[in-house]
Amino acid sequence: MKPIQVGLLGIGTVGGGVFTVLERNQDEIQRRAGRGIRIHTVADLNVERAKELVKGRSEVVSDARAVIKDPEIDIVIELIGGYGIAKDLVLEAIAAGKHVVTANKALIAVHGNEIFKAAHDKGVMVAFEAAVAGGIPIIKALREGLTANRIQWIAGIINGTTNFILSEMRDKGLDFATVLKEAQRLGYAEADPTFDIEGIDAAHKVTIMSAIAFGIPMQFEKAHVEGITKLDAIDIRYAEQLGYRIKLLGITKKTPSGVELRVHPTLIPTKRLIANVEGAMNAVQVFGDAVGTTLYYGKGAGSEPTASAVIADLVDVTRLLTSDPENRVPHLAFQPDAVHNTPILPIGEITTSYYLRLRVDDQAGVLADITKILASHGVSIDALLQKEADEGESQTDLIMLTHETKEKNMLAAIAEIQDLSTVAGEAVKIRLENLS
Ligand code: NDP
Ligand code: HSE
Repeated sequence: MKPIQVGLLGIGTVGGGVFTVLERNQDEIQRRAGRGIRIHTVADLNVERAKELVKGRSEVVSDARAVIKDPEIDIVIELIGGYGIAKDLVLEAIAAGKHVVTANKALIAVHGNEIFKAAHDKGVMVAFEAAVAGGIPIIKALREGLTANRIQWIAGIINGTTNFILSEMRDKGLDFATVLKEAQRLGYAEADPTFDIEGIDAAHKVTIMSAIAFGIPMQFEKAHVEGITKLDAIDIRYAEQLGYRIKLLGITKKTPSGVELRVHPTLIPTKRLIANVEGAMNAVQVFGDAVGTTLYYGKGAGSEPTASAVIADLVDVTRLLTSDPENRVPHLAFQPDAVHNTPILPIGEITTSYYLRLRVDDQAGVLADITKILASHGVSIDALLQKEADEGESQTDLIMLTHETKEKNMLAAIAEIQDLSTVAGEAVKIRLENLS
């Protein structure tokens, strides 16, 4: 049978990996897909660099639209990134009746609803395994493997760059800027690394997982997003002393009143497997009512790990090319008419535990005043750590862990605590999840 003809838009870090792995493993892939998969044409702005990579084995052009219009091409892979030209090209490819594979989480999280509607109307597939957690097949697990379950929550380390930064800072005592440069050199970071360090990339990914886990539309704009730039090294140390590790987590939970959708630094017990995921590795923990806890671990970024997911999508699309569109796995895992607009909860309405660090006067009655305020807002203390004041210092750090409470209760309590004349500076509040 004639090989499937693929147009590859963008041959950078991931596109280069796709080209290399597809060539290297062509025989094995063909045995699985039932026919060959060939990169017919590559489009990249840097034609010379692309030609060097491709070495005459595919055509190379600078105009991506020429690839989309080519009737020879069955599947278009978008590996350009962003939601500018990439969005236009994906929609044009769909309009031209091409199936699309993309690793572009920003595009899917922000414009997924429009893209899936266009693809559904045209009867073509849009596959996006590589958009979440690189090489880990988490989209496949959520859309297919866990389909019997009512998924209750997902918590993931889904940004390799920030996990790499947090790990290197803790282990090697390196500074933030040095480690970020290294992550960029290794190809983990986004073109704009603020997407990584400010939590936006993780928010794109958790938005996608939330939509396919709960059968809701993509609602990136409603996600609560905090990155790691304001994290203080002292809190990483205090957390360790209390038996916790701080990770940037993407969290989504289904509750009776709505869906929680949030990204922020989070304390998790060191004894949990996910707390020990280091470097650029990713891990996603999913809780389903039937299966209980499941954990998916692997490389979340980089050329070949991400290519692994892109090629898995290529094989899937190849196998399903001749199938009736109505019998394929729906884009959001739920049938389009069964996607519900469950509200995303504002951050004040979420329920979680907290780590609180206060700088307080080292004198009688201070602790009593603070605990009284917490109790008046229904916040119960789980653990307490008070450092001995340094010699000559009249103030000390007071660290508390709380039981679960609504965020708005915690914020009201903190506002009152900060008004006490015995409490100095700003309270540091970091959310804590037990993931049990
Ligand atoms: P790169 O920047 O390395 O590659 C993008 C390529 O697209 C570059 O070669 C660029 O050329 C080319 N390009 C830009 N504009 C056009 C255009 N109009 N027509 C044709 N080619 C164009 O990005 P990555 O490979 O790292 O990322 C690609 C996608 O994969 C992104 O959506 C990213 O978020 C996602 N992703 C990346 C991962 C990673 O580990 N890197 C992991 C998971 C997902 P030039 O360099 O000349 O601008
Ligand atoms: N910048 C992303 C990360 C790439 O660091 O995880 C993978 O999506």
